[in-house]
Amino acid sequence: MDLRVLDIHDDDLMRHVHRVVDRGEQHGRDGMPRWTLTEWVEAARAPDSGERAEHLGVFVDETLVGVGIAYLFLLDNTDKAWLEVVVDPDHRRRGVGTALLARLVEIAEADGRTVICSDAKIPFEQLAEHPYRSFAERHGFTQSNIEVVRHLPLPVEEVRLQDWADLAAEKSAGYRLETYVGHFPGELAESLCVLLGQLAVDAPTGDVDYEEEVMTPERLAERYAMSKAMARETFETVAVTPEGLVAAQSTLQVPVEGTDAFQWGTFVHREHRGHRLGLAVKTANLRAMQEQRSQIRRVVTQNGETNGWMISINEQIGFSPVEASVEFLRRA
Ligand SMILES: CC(C)(COP(=O)(O)OP(=O)(O)OC[C@H]1O[C@@H](n2cnc3c(N)ncnc32)[C@H](O)[C@@H]1OP(=O)(O)O)[C@@H](O)C(=O)NCCC(=O)NCCS
Repeated sequence: MDLRVLDIHDDDLMRHVHRVVDRGEQHGRDGMPRWTLTEWVEAARAPDSGERAEHLGVFVDETLVGVGIAYLFLLDNTDKAWLEVVVDPDHRRRGVGTALLARLVEIAEADGRTVICSDAKIPFEQLAEHPYRSFAERHGFTQSNIEVVRHLPLPVEEVRLQDWADLAAEKSAGYRLETYVGHFPGELAESLCVLLGQLAVDAPTGDVDYEEEVMTPERLAERYAMSKAMARETFETVAVTPEGLVAAQSTLQVPVEGTDAFQWGTFVHREHRGHRLGLAVKTANLRAMQEQRSQIRRVVTQNGETNGWMISINEQIGFSPVEASVEFLRRA
């Protein structure tokens, strides 16, 4: 077994990386969304001034059989590292995962990280004793949080979207809803970034406390560039105050080809809660995407199981639970 740093700019190697990650992540999860080669490679290559990533691979007889990634946040949460380990299903139980994890933990600890996080998608009925849990626990990780992954089949009936828009409008007079596709106006970027930075603080994250994320218009521009490179478009709906500040936001990542859209954050500024703005932005964003990108058949989202506010909106819209995303933590 040979453990090496991966050159993410090597196109041929990246095809193998994608094969291993795709096979490893899909194993036992029929019908779940998958990323294309382009999505995977461009996400890995996209510059992000807020984080550094190290990619490792394990080779057996020159065949790549496992991939490990360490994400190290640079501008905030510098006590934390996020690790991912994926092993080809045909090469499991031979120590490949252990070798990758050990090296990733070394990288994280050498960088002074004391809160080491990871996650695994697990079917609800196997939550108590799934192999991925056994692997994590064997290596000193404990469960820190459970997120529930939900899917929404499309289309949602137009009358229902109108009902929710009406319901939201009852309490959100004075806020203007604006939807942007593939670009975001510079004059609103600064105040959108305030919301994006606070999302990790206010969303329930179990035993790990996140500091406010340093989001800047430059990082926002990097995210838009990454989406474009991944052949995705960002649908962003914001609620804007009469003074021109973003009070609420909701983001969908929508592939130009392909049928799964990904719900990213939905966030209402602390001073603007209680006006049904969450429902307002989420409904308007979904409606815009459904009208403009009719090939999308499903929306994928996940929330902390204790995030009652977001879950109630999601259930109202028609999302239903499909699997758990279990988060693990090891303190150095
Ligand atoms: C989790 C994963 C990385 C393990 O990779 P692996 O190469 O099979 O792991 P190892 O061979 O190093 O296993 C080390 C230990 O983990 C535990 N373990 C791993 N697979 C297990 C299984 N199927 N059943 C029970 N325990 C298991 C065992 O304690 C094992 O030691 P042992 O074989 O001496 O009993 C792999 O299953 C995978 O790619 N999963 C999908 C991605 C994922 O969810 N990763 C995040 C996990 S936190």
